[in-house]
Amino acid sequence: MFGRIKPLDAILATAEKKSLHRSLGGFQLMLFGIGCIIGTGIFVLTSAGAQKAGPGLMLAFAIAGGVCIVAALCYAEIAAMIPVAGSAYTYSYATMGEFLAWTVGWALIMQYAIAASAVSVGWSGYFSGTILHEFLGIELPAWLAAGPLVLGGAQGGLINLPALVIALLVTGLLIIGTSESAKVNTVLVAIKVIALTAFIALTLPQADAARFNPFLPAGVFGGFGTGVGAVGAAATMFFAYVGFDAVSTAAEETKNPQRNVPIGLIGSLLFCTVFYILVAAGAIGALGGQPIMGPNGVPFPAGSEELARQCASLAHADALVCSDEPLAHVLRQIGFSGVGNMLGIAAFLALPSVILVLLFAQTRIFFVMSRDGLLPEVLSSVHPKYRTPHVVTAITGVAVAVGAAFFPVGQLADISNAGTLYAFLMVAVAVMLLRRSDPLRRRHFRVPALWLVGPLTILGCLVLFFTLPFWAMAFLPIWMAIGIAVYFAYGRSHSHVGLGRVEVHEPEYADLEPDIPGIEDRGRP
Ligand code: ALA
Repeated sequence: MFGRIKPLDAILATAEKKSLHRSLGGFQLMLFGIGCIIGTGIFVLTSAGAQKAGPGLMLAFAIAGGVCIVAALCYAEIAAMIPVAGSAYTYSYATMGEFLAWTVGWALIMQYAIAASAVSVGWSGYFSGTILHEFLGIELPAWLAAGPLVLGGAQGGLINLPALVIALLVTGLLIIGTSESAKVNTVLVAIKVIALTAFIALTLPQADAARFNPFLPAGVFGGFGTGVGAVGAAATMFFAYVGFDAVSTAAEETKNPQRNVPIGLIGSLLFCTVFYILVAAGAIGALGGQPIMGPNGVPFPAGSEELARQCASLAHADALVCSDEPLAHVLRQIGFSGVGNMLGIAAFLALPSVILVLLFAQTRIFFVMSRDGLLPEVLSSVHPKYRTPHVVTAITGVAVAVGAAFFPVGQLADISNAGTLYAFLMVAVAVMLLRRSDPLRRRHFRVPALWLVGPLTILGCLVLFFTLPFWAMAFLPIWMAIGIAVYFAYGRSHSHVGLGRVEVHEPEYADLEPDIPGIEDRGRP
């Protein structure tokens, strides 16, 4: 099963058959990347990050951004070299064999689906707080505004109805083949960037140096499995950068990929890193963002029952770490209610497109795995009218909606991060292996100093993984155990590579709609 390697030539022949028109430039890729990246992480998880690290949140953004940038370099090399659907799963299939590729694909399913749930819950906070409360004066009953389940506590609700509804709506749009045009993506990117720029411009002048002291109330490294301290916060805020890997899926349509793929990936990540650090500085400097400490001098876990109880008390009613819509909350607290509400509307408008990209990416991974015979073929059936993989989309969408309805955003993001970190690590390994096993093959982009960047990516992923809260870490092996059982029960005996069938074409896939959301001009052969 380790020897079942999908021949690179067959994979590349497939890509050749599709021969998409190379039309994208570096700037367009960057716009696409920023569209996928900025979302719930910065708009919502900022409060959880502050609870974990206090002002050290700024350092957390720098650490998480750094890990993503080295990982992105690895992605850039392999994506420009193997520019086909399936992302890290396909790269692993070509280098490490079917079994490890299956584990990567299985981790990606978890990553994208749970991330889509997390963004849905993040959207729900802004919908309830800004649209319902501020504009319509409607107070959603607590039992409809949050789910009941949280690992290690309770959210005090029954079901998060807005999150459930938005996840199902986006699923419906994907099934009928609604894509997002490049124009819509550009508008949404502009809305997000303007909202965050306004936030920075209004909060930084009010920043008070005293609010940054102590800078690291929970230390740099809070400890294994604790999820606190600057590194613990980085493991959570890593979520704010997820999505750049989607840019790599557009590598085959990029003009001069050697130059433009890294510009798109690194450019969008650098842009977001700088922005995020400034947003964190503004939020903490203007309102304060010290964590609420437990009796042992360690911050209460974000999303825990104890923290919810503290937040319900008058002493902490206005704390940054207690808000479901932290950025709008900061602006309202410092006297810019109108702008706070506009920022809330920006999040309300822009977050669904992040859900769309994540769900889209998830369904395509599922689709490719089923097309390889590792999952039942019915999953890769394409709707006769809409030309979309409607079966996987519907299954995924329902799972995403259930996750969104019942779990809190911070926990979902941490679990999703565990899967992402595993996939990034495997991509770094795949790039290094391919350099050895296939040194002469043409690379449209080569990672500079791979001997340093590769191991740094692996180390960064391991450190972040092991500082995630314990249950988020534990979720990955449990999910993997289920995946391995599925592989032995089904995939191993049905695998097309295992059966000696190595397909070169993918006629159905080439016809699939929609195209990658936010990218237009995908020329057809
Ligand atoms: N990076 C994306 C977000 O923060 C997933 O919503």
